[in-house]
Amino acid sequence: MKINGNFNKLQDSYLFFNIAQKTSEFLKKNPGAPIIKMGIGDVTLPLPQACVDAMKKACDEMGVKETFRGYCDYEGYEFLRQAIADYYKEYGVDVSVDEIFVSDGAKSDVGNILDIFSDENTVLIPDPVYPVYVDTNIMAGRKILYIDANESNGFTPEPDYNVKADIIYLCSPNNPTGAVYDRAGLKKWVDYANAQDAVILFDAAYEAFIEDKDLPHSIFEIEGAKTCAIEFCSFSKTAGFTGTRCGYTVIPKELVREGRKIGELWLRRQSTKYNGTAYIIQRGAEAVFTPEGRAQIKENIDYYKRNTAILSEALSAKGIQYFGGKNSPYVWLKCPNNMKSWEFFDYLLTKCYIVGTPGSGFGKNGEGFLRLTGFGSYENTLIAAERIKNTL
Ligand code: MLT
Repeated sequence: MKINGNFNKLQDSYLFFNIAQKTSEFLKKNPGAPIIKMGIGDVTLPLPQACVDAMKKACDEMGVKETFRGYCDYEGYEFLRQAIADYYKEYGVDVSVDEIFVSDGAKSDVGNILDIFSDENTVLIPDPVYPVYVDTNIMAGRKILYIDANESNGFTPEPDYNVKADIIYLCSPNNPTGAVYDRAGLKKWVDYANAQDAVILFDAAYEAFIEDKDLPHSIFEIEGAKTCAIEFCSFSKTAGFTGTRCGYTVIPKELVREGRKIGELWLRRQSTKYNGTAYIIQRGAEAVFTPEGRAQIKENIDYYKRNTAILSEALSAKGIQYFGGKNSPYVWLKCPNNMKSWEFFDYLLTKCYIVGTPGSGFGKNGEGFLRLTGFGSYENTLIAAERIKNTL
């Protein structure tokens, strides 16, 4: 019996697991330290009332013989897929319900989608990046090429036609840098992918944070994307579902490789390995798209954005350079005094009792940076900003 030897190539632990451990070690040594967690991008506001009400109602239905439901459709209930399709229309994107697949979140889908692609494919991943893209491909033993995302390209690198790739990851608004591709930037990637017969895995988990009207929320707003892209989205950051778990993946019918529709392969994979997202949760997710749900999630997103504005203002006051924070819940800052990412992580933890995420955890180009999130409470964010102003 042999283990999957690719696991030996992974770093010892997942980035956010590592940070959680470091934080609890610090707390063991400094009991009662007034820590403010701005590391993992976990929401703190409760679920929107519209979602709670919808889930309660669904819960009651589950307790009545006539309305009880067992296994759900593998691709998700049509009521939710229709609500998602209608949401896409607002951005001028026409996707049909059978191109939408509901799941327990974007993280699972981003990792699981790899089941349907050969391990012989070469993968192109921007650096810095959400570590899940890298780790899941290491687990499968795929060849990974990196493309530099840095200050000089505004953290939105362009394709290089000399590089041949089969699977390309893009995340916009970006985790961790907060950078957002404009239409022209995305069009370059779509053209490149179509020219190479590659597939773009587009992570749109943070699209709801976009406030600039001209920026695209979906890669399918870009002409040509339907023949080369899969889009992943999630209710986690949009509607506070990090613990509730619901997301969706959009695979256009036009996306065909080796004569096979990619959406059909995905449904084959999901129906074999996944028994669907709970009815109660899908009803909660559907409520996100109601007028009340929309108003409530806007309030929550505005609240988090006020936090990023407070953090940005504190950094500006100290002359610390930062990126993101505007169309994204993340502030990506340059560590002061040329400190390395982990060095600054320790400094912030011990001097300000603030937990951030070291940029180097997202890749080599993240070295010298640190990510703070706007997902904390307003009160804690104000305290954190004061500590930054007084200490750094
Ligand atoms: C992050 O902090 O990067 C995210 O919360 C991680 C995730 O969404 O899995």
